[in-house]
Amino acid sequence: MSIVYNEKKKTFSLHTASATYQMKTGNLNYVKHLYYGPSICDEDMSYRIRRYDRGFSGNPYDSLEERTFSLDAQPQEFTTQQQGDFRINSIEVCNSDGSFSFDGRYVSHRIYEGPFVLKGLPAAFATDRDTVDTLEIVLEDAVSKVQVVLLYSVFEEKNIIMRAARVRNGGNKAIRLERIMSCCIDYLNGSNMDILSLPGRYGQERQVERQPMTHHVHRIRSGRGISSHQQNPFIVLAERSTNEDHGACYGFALMYSGSFTAEAELDQYDQLRLVMGIGDSMFCYSLDPGEEFDTPAVLMTFSADGLTGMSHIYHDFFRNNLNRSKFVRDVRRPVLINTWEAAFFDFDDVKLIEIAKAARDMGVEMIVMDDGWYGKRDDDNAGLGDWYVNQDKIRCGLPDLVRQVSKLGMKFGIWFEPEMVSEDSDLYRAHPEWVMEIPGRPAVRSRNQLVLDIGRREVQDYIIESVNSILDSADIYYVKWDINRAVTDLWSNALPADRQGEVPHRYVLGLYRILDEIIGTHPDIMFEGCAGGGGRFDPAMLVYFTQIWSSDNTKPLDNIRLHYGSSLLYPVCSMGAHVSDASPMVPLETKAAIAMCGTFGFELDASQMKKEDIRTCRKMSELYHRYYNLNFFGDYYRLTDPFIPGNLESWENVAKDRNEALVTVVTEHLTVNGPQEYIRLKGLDPDRLYRMEHEGKDLVLSGMALMHGGIPIPREVPDFTSFIYHLTAVG
Ligand code: DGJ
Repeated sequence: MSIVYNEKKKTFSLHTASATYQMKTGNLNYVKHLYYGPSICDEDMSYRIRRYDRGFSGNPYDSLEERTFSLDAQPQEFTTQQQGDFRINSIEVCNSDGSFSFDGRYVSHRIYEGPFVLKGLPAAFATDRDTVDTLEIVLEDAVSKVQVVLLYSVFEEKNIIMRAARVRNGGNKAIRLERIMSCCIDYLNGSNMDILSLPGRYGQERQVERQPMTHHVHRIRSGRGISSHQQNPFIVLAERSTNEDHGACYGFALMYSGSFTAEAELDQYDQLRLVMGIGDSMFCYSLDPGEEFDTPAVLMTFSADGLTGMSHIYHDFFRNNLNRSKFVRDVRRPVLINTWEAAFFDFDDVKLIEIAKAARDMGVEMIVMDDGWYGKRDDDNAGLGDWYVNQDKIRCGLPDLVRQVSKLGMKFGIWFEPEMVSEDSDLYRAHPEWVMEIPGRPAVRSRNQLVLDIGRREVQDYIIESVNSILDSADIYYVKWDINRAVTDLWSNALPADRQGEVPHRYVLGLYRILDEIIGTHPDIMFEGCAGGGGRFDPAMLVYFTQIWSSDNTKPLDNIRLHYGSSLLYPVCSMGAHVSDASPMVPLETKAAIAMCGTFGFELDASQMKKEDIRTCRKMSELYHRYYNLNFFGDYYRLTDPFIPGNLESWENVAKDRNEALVTVVTEHLTVNGPQEYIRLKGLDPDRLYRMEHEGKDLVLSGMALMHGGIPIPREVPDFTSFIYHLTAVG
């Protein structure tokens, strides 16, 4: 059993294959956090907690004369509100009498098999090979009768604990939730911790920042209604000495696609508290008596093997436990060409077929018709919301266009942006009340489009019906689901004034329902997510989308950094990456080698390409297929850090059985007459021999040599040369 409750000691120990997470009830029935780290069996770790009379840190009234029990200094599993703990908190609730107070104490718990399920929110599932148990601990405020149920699902072999909270209004009048976090975790001493996050911007998503924890609240957030280009709902707490290969680190990934907050506070006593959940700015949710509110889930992991160890845990989990689509593992994803950077809005059916024909010779297996095929969409000022074919562009009609593509032996994909509307559209003219717009205040325009209020059931139904009717009208194999602006003007015409704080979360719930309905009824279609590039690249989106477009920036060298940052959490098979015309100084082979660090494809006008380039692309498409399994399902290693200036960048995929590996090296600026550079491999079997081709010769070397001595990289080569080394174990 991965969850052990020790009745005598009142401890709950949650065991994954290599870590233990421990809590204890007691001391006035508060639930204390005791430990998260390498396995410690069921040892009671409460001996580590010391108590002192801490001035200005008060004590709960019922601790009586006892002055050493302060919630401000004790590690909590979930915080109280206004009970003397002044650190960042897990909950802010306004009770029916107008008071802001929550004093949650343990009342019961239960343990059951399988993972928890959340209402209206995605969560991870167990496969046949997983042992998963769930613990629910119920905390209750004796006065308001508000309950918080703490949910923990332990994916034992996967080394993941999925956590969430459920608030239940057990009182007899409505309450208002103003902040509710999915998790809270207290470290008794966090002074040697660093915090890592993935900040960015449009075109430069998921860069890496690491900074030491200092005595203030470090806040990583999105208030944009989408998880955002600017931050990712993911942070790592790493011991200062932790690096790629060694040391302790903790990952926290929130399964949520809207505004979020992740806060880490190093307090006055060097204790470290981390909370993570729905963004609380402009958030306020009313709960009537008996109603419940579920928070999104957080996927927590501990790795003693550095950042690589943590990434491997997440990669395996994301590849197996988030998305049930056959395209994740069972059906090979085709090489695609997307029309966006090839033609933008300037295409018709004839042009599409021209691109498809030329692309077929590049080894491309699917053409994706991007933005511009519907309504009056000749530029980005009109048409959004009108999900019917533009007859002036697709004169032959969609079914016939798809048939022509099928005749070429290719598949057909199509683009949508269903959450948005243009003012110049039939939809807006018919339903201006469906947009988010605060009464009396014209809405913020972004890319000249407005946001639909998809928290409303009838708007959801319109989207479901209109998208489904296109999907069912032709043999469509793939959908790219885009969103090209942030969510502002939070207001719903369907909600009363005192419930407007629910709008941002209802938007996200609406999105999940729409996706459930459309994707759930189209299991044979592969879905890719997109948000002006990678503006909504999060673990919840990966429940629906097999892959997500990484960035509108297709410059290959920028992509190296982007993949590096993304790979801390996301597996190669989730990152859309294309070869485009950007960065003409970089050879096609190198562009393709970099795009193979994601789901490989093209984004250029194939009909204008030279014959020899078409041949190169074909070779690269073949390579993508040859190494598909290794690339998509192997263990990924970051061999260099592109944020540190250097001459080479390199990464590696190693098969799970260590029989094979694929190493990619890209030269950036090899200095004239400079030193010999070596790339040291990782993850090989030290005692086995591996064969590889190196400078036209067959080379057989032990894993030991390759990992400690490295591969010497030829240096008399032009900038931006790439090398792909395929290693196979011999004997
Ligand atoms: C943003 C996406 O990231 C692009 O690939 C493209 O689909 C455009 N939107 C279309 O408007």
